[in-house]
Amino acid sequence: MRLIQGAEEMRGLCRAAKARSGRLGFVPTMGALHAGHLSLVRAARAQSSVVAASIFVNPAQFGPREDYSRYPRNLESDCALFENEGVELVFAPEAGEMYREDSASWVLVEGLSERLCGRTRPGHFRGVATVVAKLFHIVEPDIAFFGQKDAAQVAIVRRMVRDLNFALAIVVCPIVREPDGLALSSRNAYLGPEERYSAPVLFRSLERVRRLFDGGERNSSELIRAAREEFLAEPAVRLDYLEVVDPDSLEPEPEIRKKALVAVAARIGSTRLIDNILLEP
Ligand code: PAJ
Repeated sequence: MRLIQGAEEMRGLCRAAKARSGRLGFVPTMGALHAGHLSLVRAARAQSSVVAASIFVNPAQFGPREDYSRYPRNLESDCALFENEGVELVFAPEAGEMYREDSASWVLVEGLSERLCGRTRPGHFRGVATVVAKLFHIVEPDIAFFGQKDAAQVAIVRRMVRDLNFALAIVVCPIVREPDGLALSSRNAYLGPEERYSAPVLFRSLERVRRLFDGGERNSSELIRAAREEFLAEPAVRLDYLEVVDPDSLEPEPEIRKKALVAVAARIGSTRLIDNILLEP
């Protein structure tokens, strides 16, 4: 495994790896790796001949009052995990390598970027789309792997790839969960013991929606009302949103007639968690 900090060097090594081995798979991350990230690497290994990954806590996707400075950073153990999983190239640039002081260009996926987390995190998805576009230009992968955990991010990256003619395929991998249903997240490390105990309420609310849906309920307001009830038992958890939307446009769906995304975000103390399920009639 090679650790690379420079964008030009990374591009050169990726091109050489592609010429040598064929299909280059790419897994972008912000580090603090867990089994969710590693499931993406395994998918990448299965579907490509050489795997590159990135570790970059992207300042452009954090708001001024968000957790950029305290976001967990463990480059050494992350590299060991990647190496163990057979990643060949790890790109871990400094912020100054990715953003010059006079950086003036951004990628904005209009409309989608203001939905779900975009409403409470203004500028977040502009930061995500910009860094993902930059990473795609540096790595030039044939396939890039993303987690369903960040469903809005998936919709935004897919739309950007289509709109801006990126020559690559996007593969989306299922959410990896703890035994009690909590979706793995680097931010779970912030949770105190009581907060950790309350955190599976997001998953429970989604499970309740799935049960009602399986029983024939198609009205989104009814599904949302039932899901909200789960949160009444957890007063320490503040619901940010719980919505039924189209998975591509992220527009609200009042009735579920085709595939729908049920997405939830909530705060426990100062930690913000998200989760989602897909429903298919
Ligand atoms: P990060 O939160 O580190 O996540 C990296 C990738 O891992 C994302 O595609 C995310 O959806 C996936 N992932 C996280 N938790 C997961 C879980 N429990 N199960 C399956 N996949 C999971 O998402 C980002 O970083 C950044 O926004 C990034 C795309 C790297 C751009 O900065």
